[in-house]
Amino acid sequence: MGMPEATTLRGDNDFYGALAARKTEIVAEYHRLTPRSRALAKRAALVFPGGYTRDAVMRAPYAPFVVEGAGSTVVDADGRRLIDLWFNATSLPLGHAHPAVVDAVQRQAAKGTAYYAPNEHELALAELLVGRIPSFERIRFANSGSEAVMMAIRFARAQRGCPVLVKFEGSYHGSYDDVSWSVSPSLEHAGAAAAPNAVADTSGLAGTDGRVAVLPFNDAAALRQYVHANHAKIAGIIVEPVANRIGLLLPEPAFLAEARALATQYGIVLIFDEVIAFRVGYHGAQGRMGVTPDLTTLGKIIGGGFPVGAVAGRADILGLSAPDQAGRVAHAGTFNGNPMTAIAGRVTMEALTPEVFAHIGALGADVRQRLAAIADGLPLQVTGEGSLFKITATARKIRSYRDAATNDKAWENTASLALINAGFLMTPTLSGCISAVTTRAQLDGFLDAFQRIVQS
Ligand SMILES: Cc1ncc(COP(=O)(O)O)c(C=O)c1O
Repeated sequence: MGMPEATTLRGDNDFYGALAARKTEIVAEYHRLTPRSRALAKRAALVFPGGYTRDAVMRAPYAPFVVEGAGSTVVDADGRRLIDLWFNATSLPLGHAHPAVVDAVQRQAAKGTAYYAPNEHELALAELLVGRIPSFERIRFANSGSEAVMMAIRFARAQRGCPVLVKFEGSYHGSYDDVSWSVSPSLEHAGAAAAPNAVADTSGLAGTDGRVAVLPFNDAAALRQYVHANHAKIAGIIVEPVANRIGLLLPEPAFLAEARALATQYGIVLIFDEVIAFRVGYHGAQGRMGVTPDLTTLGKIIGGGFPVGAVAGRADILGLSAPDQAGRVAHAGTFNGNPMTAIAGRVTMEALTPEVFAHIGALGADVRQRLAAIADGLPLQVTGEGSLFKITATARKIRSYRDAATNDKAWENTASLALINAGFLMTPTLSGCISAVTTRAQLDGFLDAFQRIVQS
């Protein structure tokens, strides 16, 4: 296996060391600014294991609690207003408490929040999405992106009558067991770059045997070789067309084209996981890349701030769940298509015109360019697409998980905490996103704050 590239390619240790040397001071400042969050975190630890009920918000020394949000900002439990640059994991493209969404959900709440019956709001949201994206011939709603992924895999296996799901190293597709392999494997255990080991991302998995194969991202040759040799047992190939853990990076066009060609050749179901990627353009990542999947999984923005998921795509595949199908694909869910989510989603998606996507995409491009100027000559990479951006603490240009995983995580975490101290909320791994409410002045302030952190 050999020692990972991480240790030799970590880049300029003096640069990372400068922030590490300031960590105690940055944590002390965080403690000073957030005493109420600290007290709430202590309370939370008495009921939630380690204090958390959601992995994504875990951070050291503790996360800031949020009491309200409006537009592009949130207020923490200590009364500090933070500029939100992650918008509940990219799911609020109109920002917090958008008046049109608030009005719609308030009216609906007064009429009941869920019924044991179909409703017109789920129908209207479905019509909007099916009308917008050519590959969406049919759609089914779920309550999270993870559920959508789980259902897409079930549909693929039913369509093909065989079990194996191909996923790519470093791709995150939510919490379903069959995609919880090699999401963030340590380079020590990941094996050869061209033939990665399937590394469990969590305890409690039953194994990959006959179920899952992990292949390298952006490696068309490795994909071709595996699919040619194993096509009879492959049900589906799932691709994240904006790979979050790999720098919010679009796959290379040749790689996606190869996945499409191989899937077509053998009748394998090609699944795009656009739970995040759908925000990169009016027609999602597939419109941007010009490659059409068989199924697409959705979440986040289509729920307008409420829990949501969906699987959309070919009528013949999703038709396997129709009531008259022998051996049909079952898909239950107490809150599937509930009117609160559906109306919030429709109001949000209607507001997301091509002009809005162009606007947030242009702001994203500007931020990436200015971050790249700050990072010039430093062991930092700036990547992203559309309204999404990410800073990775590595000297290595990012093309695959192996590149991204050479990052200095401690540097990213400390920089992220220093950004909270300065009033900006991003992930502990420095992922960011822009919503329609984000202003240029806020982004200027963020860039100034980041520059100060980098220079200190
Ligand atoms: C690409 C992708 N797929 C699936 C999911 C899972 O969605 P959820 O958190 O709604 O279950 C996520 C969540 O971040 C995601 O980014």
